Amino acid sequence: MTLSRRNFLRTAALATLAFPAIVRARNLNSQVQIAAVGVDGKGYGDIGEVASHPKARFVGFCDIDASRFAKIDKRHPGVTHFADWREMFRKLGDGFDAVTVSTPDHMHALPTMVAMRLGKHVYCQKPLTHTAWEARQLRLQAARSKVRTQMGNQIHSAKEYRTGVKLIQTGRIGKVLAVHTWHPNTGNKYTGMTAAPAAGPVPAGVSWDLWLGTAPNRDYAPTVYHPFNWRDWVDFGSGTMGDFGCHLLDPVFTALKLGAPLSVKADSVGANAQTWCAQQTIEWTFPGTEYTKGNTLTVTWYDGGRLPDATLALLPPGKTLSAAGSIFIGELGVMMLPHVAMPSLYPEEKFGKNHNPGDLARRARAQVKPTDKVAIDLADFVEGSSHYHAWVDAITQGHETTDNFAYAGPLTEAVQLGNVASRFSGVKLEWDAVAMKFPGKPEAEALLTKEYRKGWELTAADK
Ligand SMILES: NC(=O)c1ccc[n+]([C@@H]2O[C@H](COP(=O)([O-])OP(=O)(O)OC[C@H]3O[C@@H](n4cnc5c(N)ncnc54)[C@H](O)[C@@H]3O)[C@@H](O)[C@H]2O)c1
Repeated sequence: MTLSRRNFLRTAALATLAFPAIVRARNLNSQVQIAAVGVDGKGYGDIGEVASHPKARFVGFCDIDASRFAKIDKRHPGVTHFADWREMFRKLGDGFDAVTVSTPDHMHALPTMVAMRLGKHVYCQKPLTHTAWEARQLRLQAARSKVRTQMGNQIHSAKEYRTGVKLIQTGRIGKVLAVHTWHPNTGNKYTGMTAAPAAGPVPAGVSWDLWLGTAPNRDYAPTVYHPFNWRDWVDFGSGTMGDFGCHLLDPVFTALKLGAPLSVKADSVGANAQTWCAQQTIEWTFPGTEYTKGNTLTVTWYDGGRLPDATLALLPPGKTLSAAGSIFIGELGVMMLPHVAMPSLYPEEKFGKNHNPGDLARRARAQVKPTDKVAIDLADFVEGSSHYHAWVDAITQGHETTDNFAYAGPLTEAVQLGNVASRFSGVKLEWDAVAMKFPGKPEAEALLTKEYRKGWELTAADK
């Protein structure tokens, strides 16, 4: 074969992402060989946490920005570098078993889908995907490829959220009547922009084309996209809802066993074609479950400075809502679950005083019996564990994680449905989850997916 013919075939395969679909069956008991897509920012943390598992070994590092390898190389020297994850997958071939994906949101689904089709296990950052349709496809493909998956909302495995889930599921506040969840950020907090700025020179060592990946072409501009600030932009990020929805709504989904909503409605300010809205309230109606009261349950999200009515929380005087978190309104009382802090039960007159487990443990060690009633006792608290190690264990031991794509897919779908609703303020969108349709609302339906740049298309899950 001539060199140019070989080059042509290689380019054609890269462009169409035509990787052969193979499911590998290597014995993973000894070691899991892992490739990382995105090595700085959250990727740096993801690699460190996964690598701390005794059976994990990184064999490939991919980043579109050459300046970002120095830090990771210091901690994990000698791992081969790539700029293009497609080339990394091809070159490593059978020499890797699993992938961590820690890229901006618009570039989660494609490397994850290609990896799963190759039979690789995937740890993918939150939100699992950039659109509801992508979340559905990843869920279906994960089941089809029979790979071990985990979404990167690591607080899912932390003691705070686990304790909150246990308190709800053991009925401490009775059946749940409503949930209110909030985060202070505005959707375009990092740039404050509503239109693309003037183009600027692409820094040496950055491949802007590879960074864009699936997204429509646009000029590079310094500081507003890469790194981190892509969050504000509709083409790349998912606003406050995408940044924090998969964290804050995770214990709500887990505790109440929620799945697809019946409808979603937003009241939003500042929606525009380029960046996420400044402020929004989003209301999902879910079918009732064994942990909820009545046929339906309403979950309401507030961001950009909006908050639920604090009197709903039945807080004692002087206590305020946490900066971000949820209140679960139950038949017997309220649970406030702050974002990464221990839950509390209210009203205190009924449940007793809310102590943190450290205080209670100290008292127990000193054999000091609390004189007051304790709302949540030591035995009610659940320990946390490594979300990252759980994924490696699932791979080596052949069981599922609790945050696999069968769970994370529907959670991300609901989050991204919220982002669709925020662009149709005041309009109630009924959701037909099976057909993936908003009946009678084709303009909203169009936003369930996005246009992929030529050569970077995501294809539907294999049948
Ligand atoms: N779970 C959490 O607590 C948490 C916290 C922060 C970020 N995140 C998530 O992690 C992801 C990354 O966020 P970030 O703040 O680290 O972003 P970032 O812009 O800092 O990017 C992370 C790294 O990925 C690289 N990169 C970008 N596109 C790439 C591509 N196509 N191929 C290979 N490398 C690429 C960047 O150069 C950078 O090194 C996002 O999805 C975000 O939502 C999760």
